Amino acid sequence: MKIALIGSGGREHAIYWKLKQSLYTEVHVFPGNAGIPEQDRRPGVFKEGEFVDLRNHLHSEKYDLLVVGPEQPLVDGIADAVSDIIPVFGPTKKAARIEGSKEWAKYFMEKNGIPTARSISCNSVEEAYEALEQMPSPYVVKADGLAAGKGVTVTDSIKDARHAVHACLEQKVFGEAGGTVVIEQFLPGREASVFALCDGNRAIPFQPARDHKRAHDNDQGPNTGGMGAVTPVEYIDASLLNRIQKEVLDPAIKGFQDEGSPYKGLLYAGLMIDGNIINVVEFNCRFGDPETQCLLPMLDEDLAELMMQCAKGDLKPDFLRFRDLASIIVVIAAEGYPGSYEKGIDMNPLLASAPENPDTLLFHAGTEKEGENIRSTGGRIAGVVTSGPSLEEARKDAYHLLKNRPVEKTFYRNDIGSL
Ligand code: AMP
Ligand code: GLY
Repeated sequence: MKIALIGSGGREHAIYWKLKQSLYTEVHVFPGNAGIPEQDRRPGVFKEGEFVDLRNHLHSEKYDLLVVGPEQPLVDGIADAVSDIIPVFGPTKKAARIEGSKEWAKYFMEKNGIPTARSISCNSVEEAYEALEQMPSPYVVKADGLAAGKGVTVTDSIKDARHAVHACLEQKVFGEAGGTVVIEQFLPGREASVFALCDGNRAIPFQPARDHKRAHDNDQGPNTGGMGAVTPVEYIDASLLNRIQKEVLDPAIKGFQDEGSPYKGLLYAGLMIDGNIINVVEFNCRFGDPETQCLLPMLDEDLAELMMQCAKGDLKPDFLRFRDLASIIVVIAAEGYPGSYEKGIDMNPLLASAPENPDTLLFHAGTEKEGENIRSTGGRIAGVVTSGPSLEEARKDAYHLLKNRPVEKTFYRNDIGSL
């Protein structure tokens, strides 16, 4: 099977790594990062928002399957642009609105009885200030569109909440994505991410994972794309997962069918769990980063086969098998991330040689190679993934490696999996 994979992050490195374990797969990443072997990288063909060159390439090079890693091309309609010539693992533009517009996602959840926080969508500062008055503290302010995980402010301070509204609607810090803000009721509880493979008719969940979104230890600092993750999640047992299937995933699949846009690809439910109360914080239309990097090494299935089945609308298994281990990823980021940060950091101390422990994986994210030198190109630069019989053992191995391979001008959280 010849597979084209779109993306350049840690998530795509992990998907590439897993797809390469399927028998007879050739996987090319458009454009990939320095973690992907040179011969499997395809820079320059895929361009943001324009799919003609990619379409011609997929056709002339006879690819069998297109797998889309990030949300932006899905929201821009990549699946619609090529699905007449190739099976696509990833939803249509219409279905991808579940991530592309928080206002639409709220409408969809309410219409389909999916539990979520009460919310008010606002197009003007006055409306938004009034909506804030109607919600108790803490305040939650969200830009409607895609904002690379940075469009959400959660704060106890009405002043900061108003500032977030102002930044979005007046200063346009998120551009078009912030033309509408959603003011939401705060949900207490513990977060979890449940991913499901979908073929248009069914959603089959992965075991849950847990992301750590704040930049610094003890959940301090700004929200990021995710600084680390673990799987499984001790507070989600089989009966709770069963409820998530019935109360969240199944109604979503039915809702997409009712919209006339059956969902094919990966549906990501970001959940808040408070005792036995389940709420959806957000849906995403793709694999999560960094949860994917610790989940895929645990998946005891042929991913290429499953993705092809999803794309063709014919998912076979009733459940997914996982290895009976715990897994963790700790993300290493450039100092300053998610604010401004330096690029070109020398990552060789961490990434130049393979880990001594063969079960430890190093997934690249924002990296590039210049000869033998691996340099940073992004905020989240790489992740260390380890597994073990217990989360404690997996954690020990990940932090052991990070301590032995320090990199200047970078940081990581010391408490992934321990909160
Ligand atoms: P989102 O991009 O919608 O997932 O929001 C980013 C992060 O903000 C989430 O992972 C939560 O930690 C937090 N968050 C978002 N919405 C809420 C909410 N209604 N209540 C509490 N925390 C929230
Ligand atoms: N880790 C959060 C996300 O992928 O959206």
